[in-house]
Amino acid sequence: MRFPLRLDRPEALGGLRELASTTDFSERGVCDRLGLPSIYDFQTLRAGREGSADVADGLDLLIRLFMDGEGVRASRIEELGLSGGMRAVEALGLLGGHPRGPGWLGASALLYPTESLLISSDLNEQAPGISEDGGRLRRDSVYPAITNAAREFMSDLPLPGAGRVLDLCSGTGIGALALARGAEEVWAVDITERCTLFAEFNARLNGVHNIRILFGDLYEPLHERQFDLIVAHPPYVPSDADEFVFRDGGADGERIVRRILEGLPDHLAPGGLFYARCMATDRDDAPLERRIRSFLGARAEEFDVFVIPSREMRLSDYLSGGVRSGRMGFEEAESRRVRLEEAGVEAFVHGTLLVQRRAVGRPAVTSRRFRAPQAGPEVLDWLRRWEVARLDSGFGEAVLEMTPRLREGAVLELRYRVAGGKPLTEGLSVRSDGPFPSAFFLPADTAHLLSLFDGATPVREVFREGTHKEWIPPATREEEFVGLLVALSGGGVLELPGFEIPADT
Ligand SMILES: C[S@@+](CC[C@H](N)C(=O)[O-])C[C@H]1O[C@@H](n2cnc3c(N)ncnc32)[C@H](O)[C@@H]1O
Repeated sequence: MRFPLRLDRPEALGGLRELASTTDFSERGVCDRLGLPSIYDFQTLRAGREGSADVADGLDLLIRLFMDGEGVRASRIEELGLSGGMRAVEALGLLGGHPRGPGWLGASALLYPTESLLISSDLNEQAPGISEDGGRLRRDSVYPAITNAAREFMSDLPLPGAGRVLDLCSGTGIGALALARGAEEVWAVDITERCTLFAEFNARLNGVHNIRILFGDLYEPLHERQFDLIVAHPPYVPSDADEFVFRDGGADGERIVRRILEGLPDHLAPGGLFYARCMATDRDDAPLERRIRSFLGARAEEFDVFVIPSREMRLSDYLSGGVRSGRMGFEEAESRRVRLEEAGVEAFVHGTLLVQRRAVGRPAVTSRRFRAPQAGPEVLDWLRRWEVARLDSGFGEAVLEMTPRLREGAVLELRYRVAGGKPLTEGLSVRSDGPFPSAFFLPADTAHLLSLFDGATPVREVFREGTHKEWIPPATREEEFVGLLVALSGGGVLELPGFEIPADT
């Protein structure tokens, strides 16, 4: 199907915006109407959403047409007094005759409110609109911006300061359009022309002018250009097939992710940040974070690397999950296992990657921290600051003067073991459930020491008192004690002034 929308009808864009506004076709409007916690929880009628099939008003009508991809009677549009607004929709190419027959209208593309924008993308089998093949996906179908994967991508999207921003693998342009609000200029690149056309339409519909949308292979259309923020939600599904450009990432899923990382030394400006939401692999010769370093090549030492998984799957679990869900047959899983094992793949890591280019000379960070499900994007900024600060050669000395406090919600459990018929203290188990869950097992006397961290007493004093009272073993050096406190702080048990961990969201 050719690109269905019209880019040469600027006067109709205002009409569509007006229609969306008067019918309350907004995230809040749609979620309230359908009882959804978030627009990302939307399901079409065909995908099983329950509820009335009535078209009671303009909001129902737009949901039915553009989100469910179902036909409506042209006469209903008139009855609801929406003919004027729908003329703009028609002029933009969004509306056409529905296969149900004369008198029925349907959508030529999806349209939905998300991230305070109106976004259009291709029809699909769950929302076929006026397509003649039941909404079958095409090789270059434009990925919808309200899937779960898009939710994950958008939820960690860094907020740009003023600067140059690049969204690689931009699809509808959702990332670039959301980032355009705070940026000087935003560039969006996609390898399918269809995506760039949809993104162009979306930019115009939302009145976003500081964006350049380019058709091409990753950095290729950008030449030597550098950016302060590069974001990417690339295809990463392991697949040998070249069936869907938005999905297939080669045998190990890393075909595109890897090339994006390899291009960072040329395209990420000093002090810049790269963010991707994707899946990649741990291998028998190196975990993902070390492999990212190797992709960065000769200039790797200029970069800090952070891997923040939300899910980690052993290769065998990934493949058996694929068989159970029907994504692959048993034989296919077996042949993939052989090939992936030959490549050294041990596990798939799904989550957020951050790479920052250091503006000043200092040791490079290589970090992997598992994030608790309830922890929001704010904790990523904390993590970056913390990991950089703790590598500073003067940090230990600075910690001695700090006045830490125990973090709300940390769990301390004194453990006893019965010996000779008596419960004897065995040690102190210390745990924090978030934002980066951690667990420690320490000498029982550490409980007394930790109680001295009241937010007012400097570490140096606690060390002195702890040594005096023999809560700290006699040979312990100050640096060792500080090392323990740094570990407890990074684990979210202690909070150092200036490094307060954002509350769970
Ligand atoms: C999973 S979709 C993500 C789209 C959008 N960023 C989002 O989050 O909704 C991946 C996108 O990458 C694009 N893509 C795949 N290979 C590419 C390449 N080599 N260069 C640029 N874009 C590519 C696809 O066309 C598709 O639009």
